[in-house]
Amino acid sequence: MERLPPTRRLVHRFVAGERAVDALSVLDTLASQGLVSAVTYLGENVRTAADAARATATYLDLLGQIGERKLRTTPSLKLTHLGLDLDDTLCAANLTRVVELARAVGTWVWIDMESSRYTERTLALYARLRPVHPNLGCVVQAYLRRTPGDVEHLVELGAIVRLCKGAYHEPPALAYPDKRDVDASYARLADRLLAPDAQARGVYPGFATHDERLQRHVLEVAAARGIGRDRFELQMLYGIRHDLHGPLRAAGAPLRVLVPFGEDWYGYFMRRLAERPANLLFLLRQLGRG
Ligand code: FDA
Repeated sequence: MERLPPTRRLVHRFVAGERAVDALSVLDTLASQGLVSAVTYLGENVRTAADAARATATYLDLLGQIGERKLRTTPSLKLTHLGLDLDDTLCAANLTRVVELARAVGTWVWIDMESSRYTERTLALYARLRPVHPNLGCVVQAYLRRTPGDVEHLVELGAIVRLCKGAYHEPPALAYPDKRDVDASYARLADRLLAPDAQARGVYPGFATHDERLQRHVLEVAAARGIGRDRFELQMLYGIRHDLHGPLRAAGAPLRVLVPFGEDWYGYFMRRLAERPANLLFLLRQLGRG
């Protein structure tokens, strides 16, 4: 896929490149367009402490660059990239180093949410670290049946929360199989995160979706409740629905674009293909031609 020019283009549509400099150049471009950003060094489920340390070092280097370039960029990372499969304590120590440096350069860190195997441990680690690290955010997935309960705990914590639909293949016992149910759940959870008591507790929600209907819903609810545009944000992935950036910004919507990079792009790329059959058809056609 990296070698054939058309499929290579498709990979590069979603991934800034393999190196941190590739991501930094995209982050600079987004900043020049007046957009705030997030950055992910792709990788997950590392098997050795040395690999977890390498991922941690990459985030620390990135934060150095973010500080130097005065970028309004937040790292967004996976706990299994920092060693969650090996040891909770090791992972927490790696995360703490990243969060502390992020705080020193004036930014946050979002902990991505992975498959349901990790939901409980990820939220437990978040609940433990959040009181000490006010610049730490986490993610919840609207497709999981458990999420309304998790959101109540996060509201109590006054958390920084990204709400997404969810990108993993989960069994129906745990996640809504029907897209309509997922969308309805997303709208309900958005309402909850924008509720007056959640706002009063300091909850800062990031609404991660390219679904125009849900983006509109969030903006309407926030406007109706008089919630300032510095109290929430919309989030989108690099390479998806760029056509919406202009209109959203023209409407004054707070928007963050998440830029992934790294050699380990395959899992991320496959999730983006799986979300949209048209992407997969395009890929298969190009591979056939190749
Ligand atoms: P939906 O899939 O309904 O798509 C709405 C529209 O967006 C589509 O009609 C299409 O136009 C466009 N679109 C969506 N995906 C596309 C694609 N791959 N290619 C082309 N067009 C596409 N998930 C997770 O499990 N854990 C996490 O931590 C995160 N983090 C995260 C951060 C950010 C900033 C975003 C935007 C998303 C995530 N996700 C995630 C992924 C999320 O769970 C979900 O899989 C995708 O956002 C796709 O769902 P939508 O909400 O966009 O809706």
